Amino acid sequence: MGWSDVLASADVANGQVVAVECGSDEIVVWRTTSGELAACDARCPHQWAHLATAGAVDGDELVCLSHFWRFATDGAGSKLSATGRRDEKSANRTFRVKERDDRILLWSDDGGDTSSG
Ligand code: FES
Repeated sequence: MGWSDVLASADVANGQVVAVECGSDEIVVWRTTSGELAACDARCPHQWAHLATAGAVDGDELVCLSHFWRFATDGAGSKLSATGRRDEKSANRTFRVKERDDRILLWSDDGGDTSSG
């Protein structure tokens, strides 16, 4: 277990979603439109669409375009109705992620470097 260097910071622009594999986990790293970095399971908890191809960032949320479930940076799931009502949905698992020296580091239970802080 430890931090794994997975991407350059420039590889994930604001509003972008990028797939990475870390140990045995399929993960997407994404940024809100304001630049906050987040990481979660690549597979949507609804019907397993891959969020690197079926996902799009809308403000502070990652939206699965298959059936429009939305995920906050903390993984909380919801869906907006046509009238604006927000219904709670299953959460997506999140991963610890940070940036250092223009690199993106993910916390992995399967490997990584524990000396990176
Ligand atoms: S598979 Fe993602 S919302 Fe249905």
